[in-house]
Amino acid sequence: MHRFDRSTTAFQEFIASMRQHWANRMYPALVAEYRARAAGDAPDSAEAAGALLSDSATYRWFGFVERHFQRMKYSDPQWGLAAAFERDPEGVARALAAAEGSRYLTLDPELAIPAYYRAVDIHQHPGNLVGAPYDGLMYLISAASIHPTTRRFEAHERFAAWLADRGRFERVLDMGCGFGKSTLPIARAFPEAEVIGIELSEPCLRLAAVMAEESGPANVHFAQKDALRTGHADGSFDLVTSTQLLHELPLREVRNLLAESFRLSRPGGWVVHLDFRCHEPWKQFLIEGHAVRNNEGYLPQFNRMDMQAALRAAGFEEVGIEPFAEAEGVTDPAWPYWRFPWTLFAGRRPLK
Ligand SMILES: C[S@@+](CC[C@H](N)C(=O)[O-])C[C@H]1O[C@@H](n2cnc3c(N)ncnc32)[C@H](O)[C@@H]1O
Repeated sequence: MHRFDRSTTAFQEFIASMRQHWANRMYPALVAEYRARAAGDAPDSAEAAGALLSDSATYRWFGFVERHFQRMKYSDPQWGLAAAFERDPEGVARALAAAEGSRYLTLDPELAIPAYYRAVDIHQHPGNLVGAPYDGLMYLISAASIHPTTRRFEAHERFAAWLADRGRFERVLDMGCGFGKSTLPIARAFPEAEVIGIELSEPCLRLAAVMAEESGPANVHFAQKDALRTGHADGSFDLVTSTQLLHELPLREVRNLLAESFRLSRPGGWVVHLDFRCHEPWKQFLIEGHAVRNNEGYLPQFNRMDMQAALRAAGFEEVGIEPFAEAEGVTDPAWPYWRFPWTLFAGRRPLK
């Protein structure tokens, strides 16, 4: 889709290898040190678990690599992704050319970007997906798989398969769809359905449209809309989804998103948000630490939010919150490598 010069490619390959090393070698070493320090005790909070590592050089090195290699990936002044794309505006335009006038795409240049979104460069992505025309391309490169047994995009394909096991749906809305990583597999899983992905970021939507132009499916459409105020009619979808959106919202907006997804689903329709959640103290310490190190500003408070209560307060019944396996074997407690604690948040709008 887009080619870099050799130095940039070599640097980016080094960063990607280091990320693998971090997830598959440094993380198990950190776990071993934590277990040795805990000496059979089970700390009862994330804070108590973290205190065991307060003077650990292994933990500091783990945290440094997590934060600063991600920063270098995007923002190294010479070989970072942003600098490489800035040097090649024609290449960016070429890569996105198929989005121009695409039947898969509806843009809204007047759409207001919410203040919470501009406040944080999430994932350390400069400008948070609305800063530059190449933001979608940059996000695509960045969103690679990080442990040895996961295929690229596997989590999203497995999510679509999970949904397909639950029934047939005719109108599906995928909120915060990014470049379509979730929406495209859902549209393929439900070929008879009309599937709409909505997103704030124009550069991501353009990339989604390019992908749809290249390989379909024909039943998908991407629109620039705020998921908190979509403008779609009440009850106009029988399935509303999102992947990795909730933890990127302040708590008040999580509640507003649940209210909007409830409003949009038809009586008896389903809402399924796929996100992260972990309350086991040691892993909670790590995931909330990851949030700080990777500018996931809203994740810690989302992780501690009572989502059962929030889903019920929004009006849902048959509320279910359950772990989700983004690859084979990853929810086994003995899984040795770093992973995000993927979790499904589902509810149904009552028939009456
Ligand atoms: C972590 S990304 C996930 C993208 C995609 N669902 C995936 O799993 O690859 C979260 C996405 O939500 C989008 N987003 C955040 N707030 C939004 C809002 N209020 N309305 C629509 N999209 C939003 C962001 O621009 C970003 O693309």
